[in-house]
Formats: sequence, C-alpha cells, structure tokens
Amino acid sequence: MKKIAIINGPNLNLLGRREPGVYGSTDFESYFESLKTLVPHLALSYFQSNIEGELVTALQQAGFDSDGIVLNPAAYTHTSVAIGDAIAAITAPVVEVHISNVHARESFRQLSHVSAKAAGTITGLGLQGYELAIRYLLARS
Ligand code: DQA
Repeated sequence: MKKIAIINGPNLNLLGRREPGVYGSTDFESYFESLKTLVPHLALSYFQSNIEGELVTALQQAGFDSDGIVLNPAAYTHTSVAIGDAIAAITAPVVEVHISNVHARESFRQLSHVSAKAAGTITGLGLQGYELAIRYLLARS
C-alpha cells in the first residue's frame, strides 16, 4: 500500500473558523475524512503543528519511507529556512500546497523557502489542492 503524509503548519488547526472568507468554512478534520474515502487504497496520514521544529521532525520522520508528502507550511513558508532545508534533506517528493492564492495577497507571502525544494506548488485552489497533490504523487510514484 502506498504511503502519503499530509503535514500542516501553524493556524491550520483553526481551519473553518479562521478567516473563512480566505480559507473557507470547512475544518481540516472533516475534509481529511472525505479525502480518505476518495483514496481508499492509500495509507494517508495527517499531522498538524503550530511549532516549526515539530514540522521539521515530521518531515524527517515521513521523509524516507513514504511515497510523498503534501505540505502546507502556512506562515512558515515565508520564514523558515529550516523547513526548506528539511525538504532538501529527505528523499520523498514534497508538494507544497496553499489553500489561498498567495500570489494575490500581501507581498511578504510572495517569498517561499519551500517552493525551490518542492516538486511543485499548488496555490489558490482551496482544499482541493490537497487532493490534486495526492493524485500527482500517486501518479509519479
Ligand atoms: C497559507 C498561506 C500562508 O501565507 C498563510 O500564512 C497560511 C495559510 C494557505 O494555505 O493559503 O497560514 O499557507
């Protein structure tokens, strides 16, 4: 069975309640349940943390024995050299996902320490971006 890990960064635990005009009104746990039914033959895991170092550790743990990682580093996208370095250090392909279109937002969101290390980036397609990232990872592995 193929293995894919979803890793979400800070404040994404508040999805559904957090700025619904930007991020929508569905919480991630509900979305994750529906996502699992779309890919029933996949070992899909989900981890969220508000702490940068925990995200680095999660990348290291999933990074050598999964078929891919779907990563939304949230605000750490724009600040974290450590998360960029972790992606470069592991062997599993990483797809960077953003729910909102970061390019249509503030200028500080234009910088990503992740994009250059990722296999690719999906931004602005809402929660569907996670499913699309998984389908890409399954097709390539
Ligand atoms: C985000 C975009 C980031 O700029 C922001 O800090 C987030 C969420 C997104 O999914 O659109 O927390 O990664």
